Amino acid sequence: MANWKELYEKFGEFPDEIPKKFMEQIEFMKINNLGTFFDLGCGTGRYSLLAASLGFDVIGGDYSNKAIEICNEKIKLNSSELKIKFQHVDMFDLKFKPNFFDNLIAIHSIQHANTKQVEEVFRSITRILKTKGLVFIVVPSLRNRDYSDKIKVDKYTYQPKTGLEKGVNHHYFDEKEIRILLKEFEIINLEYYEREYAEGKISRQYIVLAKKL
Ligand SMILES: C[S@@+](CC[C@H](N)C(=O)[O-])C[C@H]1O[C@@H](n2cnc3c(N)ncnc32)[C@H](O)[C@@H]1O
Repeated sequence: MANWKELYEKFGEFPDEIPKKFMEQIEFMKINNLGTFFDLGCGTGRYSLLAASLGFDVIGGDYSNKAIEICNEKIKLNSSELKIKFQHVDMFDLKFKPNFFDNLIAIHSIQHANTKQVEEVFRSITRILKTKGLVFIVVPSLRNRDYSDKIKVDKYTYQPKTGLEKGVNHHYFDEKEIRILLKEFEIINLEYYEREYAEGKISRQYIVLAKKL
């Protein structure tokens, strides 16, 4: 496990901008599926709170108790009318009933797994979503990565050799794998997304919106 506690103590928020695409996708969810909403690996809750403010009935779940603590502090500052709660979850052991959620998002979270574990998480996501449930996922792409500072764990998974995420699995996806993992879904949008987050440093991701068949 990453030292998420240290990361959250250091940054408060995870240092990344909200992908602009998120706003479009959540609007789509709102029009089609306003209902229950699970934010898997919610971090400090920025997407969960946004979803709750749009009227979804939200559960934000994260492995880090420190992150959940920060989320609960944020709820105190927000209107008590929001339908939202945060709880500790482990994506490798999701205890929700089958067909529980209308919507599920996982933004930069599912990648913290090896290939077998990723398959396991997608099986759980499929199980806990309702038929016609929507899933919105942001994951890193395998394209053009420099892996020289990482140890290879399996075909798609690497671990940084240094830093706060030393030894933590980082799974990099390609389109073919995403389509296989979502074989029980209709893919509404699968988009490659690139952005320079610091000079010469490019973040490469896939943004996926899909509906459970
Ligand atoms: C890069 S952060 C992204 C947080 C949030 N989605 C965002 O974009 O602001 C990754 C999150 O995944 C969570 N995470 C890692 N492994 C997890 C697991 N096994 N179960 C649940 N959450 C996990 C971490 O605690 C961390 O909050």
